Amino acid sequence: MSAKNNTGSRAVFVTRFGALAATVGSAVGLGNIWRFPYEAGTHGGGAFIIFYIAFVFMLGIPVLCAEFFMGRATRSNVFGAYRKLAPGKPWYLAGYIGISASLLILSFYSVVAGWTLEYFSMSITGNLDFTGSAEGHSRFVELTTGWMPVVWTVLFLLCNFFILIGGVTKGIERMSNISMPILFFILLALCINSFFLPGLKEGLTFLFKPDFSKITSGVIISALGQAFFSLSLGLGCMMTYASYFNDRNRLGRTAVSTALLDTMVAILAGIIIFPAVFTYGVSPQAGPTLVFEVLPAIFYRLPAGDLWSALFFLLLFIASITSTVSMSEISITYFCEEKKMSRRRATVVSSLLGLCGGILCALSFGPLSDITIFGMTFFNLFDYFSSNICLPLGGMICSIFVGNFVDRRLLRRQFTDDGSHPFKALHLLVFTLRWICPAAIFIIFLNSTGII
Ligand code: PHE
Repeated sequence: MSAKNNTGSRAVFVTRFGALAATVGSAVGLGNIWRFPYEAGTHGGGAFIIFYIAFVFMLGIPVLCAEFFMGRATRSNVFGAYRKLAPGKPWYLAGYIGISASLLILSFYSVVAGWTLEYFSMSITGNLDFTGSAEGHSRFVELTTGWMPVVWTVLFLLCNFFILIGGVTKGIERMSNISMPILFFILLALCINSFFLPGLKEGLTFLFKPDFSKITSGVIISALGQAFFSLSLGLGCMMTYASYFNDRNRLGRTAVSTALLDTMVAILAGIIIFPAVFTYGVSPQAGPTLVFEVLPAIFYRLPAGDLWSALFFLLLFIASITSTVSMSEISITYFCEEKKMSRRRATVVSSLLGLCGGILCALSFGPLSDITIFGMTFFNLFDYFSSNICLPLGGMICSIFVGNFVDRRLLRRQFTDDGSHPFKALHLLVFTLRWICPAAIFIIFLNSTGII
């Protein structure tokens, strides 16, 4: 390791490419390929996308910079990062929000990721033969309501476990180095396929031509929530990954590249999905089940349909696992550094917690569908509580903390690598973190909890 890497015995992402691949891997996930298309589809296409992109750049990048700063300056888990920067103050409590929310997200996310694994296996065995979206719906219900989802969730979590047990460099970095180029290659292949579909023009018009009459406050707020979820902000996930960056990693550049690549993947997912949707006259407003109920039926009608659907579900699987690895890492570093567990034991504990939550969520559609808390099944409750409450709250605390309570000189040192290159946007960054991000996040928070 280079002498400039002031990480002690702590793990580090060895190459710049590896650090970016892991960070983009965390950001690119079901949020881009599953959630983004249906959010755009139900919220007016192009108009939603304009707001989404504006929020990624105006608010997402500053909060990403704040998390990167806290991670690399302290080289700690989320809990330790707050404690080192503000010793004796209660800011570290925000770490608990991040750690518990990451386990809740891991639980429901693994269930959806388990479905992608199941759909992938059905594609390669030629069993994904839905002929229409009505059949797609009944098969989806059948597949998600029994005990089988538990098996797929467990299989997915096992894959997650084996990557994590390899550690930061040999597990996460190596897996990201291989899987991210494959992901981009599959995306490109599916995009090229879209350009030959008769619904191309209609699909692209829907995606890129903004219909401002569809803009409501709900659309704007969903775009902001989507931007934060997609960039993995608010839990300390990016903070944990930045604690593995080496000292030469330019934080500002990494933040901008991550946001650009993440947004590009979301738009490419739209280019893959909407021309297909319009080719067969399906409504783009199908909602959360768009990818599982509608797309297989569309792929089935294409020449070499099994190949396209296998590629698509493999893409979803890769995107999911690079994200779940990053969520798990939040609690693993916490257990290692604060509870003094070995990495192996921390990985086992975190995976078992994810497994318990995952089983509850996997059964939420069938055997446990009658058990509700605040009127929600486990799956919906975990999703609602983590995405709508913990994520904005964590993002707001981080932005207020870095914007107001961190020594400017420390910030400058991290963003200029001890003065070795300029970082002109520091004032703008601090201003945005201090005023604009907390206000905007507060508004999403009030809206998503139903207060406004
Ligand atoms: N960003 C991931 C996605 O788009 C989700 C995620 C949220 C990952 C929070 C880590 C932490 O799917």
